[in-house]
Amino acid sequence: MKYGLIGEKLGHSFSPEIHHKLFDYDYRLCEMSGDELRSFLQKRDFCAVNITLPYKELVVPLLDELDSSAANIGAVNTIINHDGKLIGYNTDYFGLQSLLEYAGISVKGRKVLILGSGGTSKTAYAVVNDLGCSQALRVSRAGRDGCITYQQAIESHLDAQVIINTTPCGMDPDVDCSPIELSVFTNLFGVVDVIYNPLQTKLVSEADALDIPSAGGLFMLVAQAVSAAQLFTGQSITAQKLKEVYTDLLREKQNIVLIGMPASGKSSVGSKLAQLLNRPFIDTDVLIEQRVGLTIAQIFEEYGEEYFRAVEADIIAEIANQQGAVIATGGGAILNRENVSMLKRNGIIYFLDRSPEYLSISQERPLIKTAEDIKRLYDDRYELYADACDRRLSANNDVDEVVTLIVDDWGV
Ligand code: S3P
Repeated sequence: MKYGLIGEKLGHSFSPEIHHKLFDYDYRLCEMSGDELRSFLQKRDFCAVNITLPYKELVVPLLDELDSSAANIGAVNTIINHDGKLIGYNTDYFGLQSLLEYAGISVKGRKVLILGSGGTSKTAYAVVNDLGCSQALRVSRAGRDGCITYQQAIESHLDAQVIINTTPCGMDPDVDCSPIELSVFTNLFGVVDVIYNPLQTKLVSEADALDIPSAGGLFMLVAQAVSAAQLFTGQSITAQKLKEVYTDLLREKQNIVLIGMPASGKSSVGSKLAQLLNRPFIDTDVLIEQRVGLTIAQIFEEYGEEYFRAVEADIIAEIANQQGAVIATGGGAILNRENVSMLKRNGIIYFLDRSPEYLSISQERPLIKTAEDIKRLYDDRYELYADACDRRLSANNDVDEVVTLIVDDWGV
């Protein structure tokens, strides 16, 4: 391997995709044990590599030289082999600085809590201090190595204004985990999570629900890769290119989720859209029918709505972890807030708003057998659809026009 990423577990990494969007060197993933990494560095048979968990601190004493920010932080994520001399850099520093700027979250004059005690928490500590925070505290479970405990954070630092999570809590597959209860902090101006898988962690969605500006880690990931790629090649990359690569990657990973009334066209729009964008199409009602082995109408008749909703929630929890798909949901999926937050983890939600006069009754759909059913359901649910969505689209037109509206908004 001449260029690539070294870490213990790399299945989740987007780094090869990002580097391939920047330059044409062959960027590989290479999982190694600590001992394998030591002998890899000793052999010096590579051009440049990135280093990730859990080795960012371990490599420090194995290098010949460190640039100033890597030396100051004590963690390295980029190693360049300069004619046999190994030089360590920390491009996570630029990554986090860029993310804070991009997300418009200022730490200047503010008190910051950094969750976690590893290399990234040290990087965050350096970044926020350099940006002029009034105070930065690192928080860990053990409270060692200059960190305070979570207990101390809750007892004495509820006036924190910015929280940055650098722990793996909330990362796929443990998407239901959140490192700290946000609602007790009443002074928050911003919440940042360095996790990028899922795109929106539970912590970020909790911040969202509390109307606190927040950001996930995808922009940081791209920015640190851009900075590393500049060191790899000696060529500069513009801020515009960084944003382009980020937007491309976000689109590739994001699910497009369709919500709306029964018979509003979610399945037909979804399957056309998926075909057009060359993406997998998932229809939650179809998956429910397959799982139970009955049609939706039969499930309602034999087992009742409550059972149907439980299966629907299970299916949504499973498929919401996927990325890059088009997902059509059943009209009532939004009745359960948990379904909505699951779908938001990796998705942008479009509400196909088709007016009652354009919705047809159907004997196959248990909840819209009469025109009165449609009117009542629309009135009962309108606010829920509007609240759950990222975008509302008027869907009174035919399928192709609605597909075009989504494509134009999403910006392919
Ligand atoms: C429902 C809508 C249906 C199906 C079930 C419940 C609802 O899906 O999930 O009958 O509560 O609105 P469509 O929206 O595809 O009809």
